[in-house]
Formats: sequence, structure tokens, C-alpha cells
Amino acid sequence: MDPNTEISLHTGSKMPVLGLGTWQLTDDTTETITAALNLGYRMIDTASDYGTQPGIGEAFRRSGIERSALYLVAKVEETDDAYEATRQYLSELQLDYADLMLIHRPPRTGAGEELWRGLLRAREEGLTRDIGVSNYSVELIEALMRATGEVPTVNQIEWSPFGHSEAMLQYATERKIVIQAYSLLTRTKRLDDKRLSGIAAKYGKSPAQVLIRWNLQRGTVPIPKANQRGHLEENIRVFDFEIGEEDMAALTGLNERYSSLGTLPYM
Ligand SMILES: NC(=O)c1ccc[n+]([C@@H]2O[C@H](COP(=O)([O-])OP(=O)(O)OC[C@H]3O[C@@H](n4cnc5c(N)ncnc54)[C@H](OP(=O)(O)O)[C@@H]3O)[C@@H](O)[C@H]2O)c1
Repeated sequence: MDPNTEISLHTGSKMPVLGLGTWQLTDDTTETITAALNLGYRMIDTASDYGTQPGIGEAFRRSGIERSALYLVAKVEETDDAYEATRQYLSELQLDYADLMLIHRPPRTGAGEELWRGLLRAREEGLTRDIGVSNYSVELIEALMRATGEVPTVNQIEWSPFGHSEAMLQYATERKIVIQAYSLLTRTKRLDDKRLSGIAAKYGKSPAQVLIRWNLQRGTVPIPKANQRGHLEENIRVFDFEIGEEDMAALTGLNERYSSLGTLPYM
């Protein structure tokens, strides 16, 4: 595995195994994304309320990297008209297509069937290569599939050793749905956990690198966010070590359904 390694989606498309989150990225988005691309990041995650769309589009265009080698994840909001919103966000990004459009979160009622139909249309028209969901439970994914026959390629959810679900992972594996892990660094709140830092010290790595690597080894796709150049660099230096089986089990065993946002909506 290296930064160019990709994971297959059930549609046959491929997605990088590591991405960069951009929630609360500072206002120099273009420069931060440019620095990330120079370091080897190829997948960037955004949403309309992050305010990072224009800067990401600018960095993609300036990079000189072929668009097909870059991977953009964006999201429609639960109150959006998904098709129209996809067009609008692409115009903010000044890009022709997204690689993956997600329903950001389920609406208050139902499973988001209308949003899903809008995304299906966007995909048919080439506005996005793939479509998926975020913050969905197994029950809601099942309801969406019953209504439309279409399996999401991805469920983007909060996911760290401190908060995850074996049942969700098993379900996603069976359905060939990739779990993208957000807030996997626990928004820094658990980085000083002694059990985590003990394992990190053993490998000569930082706690953040261990959290990222734990995801990579379990086949879930981490999208850590970092403003600071040192963090950007550290978070991609995770391909030169391997966590042993026992330590992987110990990390997985830290699960206490912890959420740095408040709750794990998929539980
Ligand atoms: N779909 C959804 O509903 C949803 C919800 C939440 C997040 N997300 C996505 O997932 C991404 C990641 O989640 P997140 O931003 O909530 O939290 P996160 O990635 O767990 O944590 C980000 C924080 O960790 C710090 N950090 C980064 N690398 C570090 C390192 N090596 N050592 C120490 N601290 C480090 C960052 O600091 P600096 O910034 O100062 O470098 C920032 O304060 C988001 O940016 C967003 O793209 C999606």
C-alpha cells in the first residue's frame, strides 16, 4: 500500500485509500490543497457548508495534475434538490464533474429517496461518477435500496477505534459499500489516550498516524483534516509501517461508541 493505492467501489470505479477533509480549513484553502496535492494527497472531501469549494476547484486547476488522477467528494444537503444542487456546487467548484456525491445526512423523515433519485439523474448526466450516503444507518441504507434498487458506493461516517460498529462494518463489507471514516482523529480529543499513545510509541509513530493506519488496515478510508503543513505531512506518512495483529485488536477493542460530534448517527 502507498499513497497511490486505490480501493474498488462496487460500480467498478476506484477511489484513493486516503483523503483530506476540509471542514474548518482556513481561508487559504487553495494554498492548503495545493500543499496537500504536492505531498501526494489525491482525494479531497468537501461540502457546501465548509466554504472550501471554490478554493479546491482553484487548486485542482492550478495543480497541472490530470483531472482523472484527482478525486473530489462533495455532498448535497438534506433540504436540497439534489440534482440542481449538484449543478450549483460544480459551478462553485468550477469543475465539470465530481467523483463522488453523497447525501450529507438523512432527512428528518424517510430515507432520502428523492435526494437519491436526484443524484441518480446527476450521475446519468455525467455530473458525478459515483453516488453514496453519509451518516446513514443500515436500516436507512436498506430503505433507500428498496425504493430505488441502487446500492450506495460509500457511507461516510464518524469512525475511530473509540467509536465504530462491527455490525456496520460487516454489513458494508457484505454489500460492498466502502466506509469513509470522518473525525477519525477524534478532532484531537482522544489523541492523548494512554493506550493509543503506548501503541504509537511502539512503532515510533504519532497517535494520529496510528488512527489513520488502523483505518487503512481495516479497509475503511480515512479522510483526516489538517490545516497545519506539519500535520498534512505527518498524516500521509502512514505507508511505511504496519500495525501488528495484536495491536490492531487492542485498538479495535477501545470501542466505547465515542463520538467527538455528540452521537454516532448510524448506531
Ligand atoms: N459527512 C459528515 O457529516 C462529516 C462530519 C464531520 C467531518 N466530515 C469530514 O471529515 C473530515 C475529518 O473530520 P474532522 O475535521 O471532523 O476531524 P479530524 O480529522 O478527526 O480532526 C481534525 C483536527 O485534527 C488536527 N490534526 C490533524 N492532523 C493531526 C496530527 N497529525 N496530529 C495532531 N492533530 C492533528 C487538525 O489540526 P489542524 O487543522 O490545526 O492541522 C484538526 O484540529 C472533515 O474535515 C470533513 O471533510 C464529514
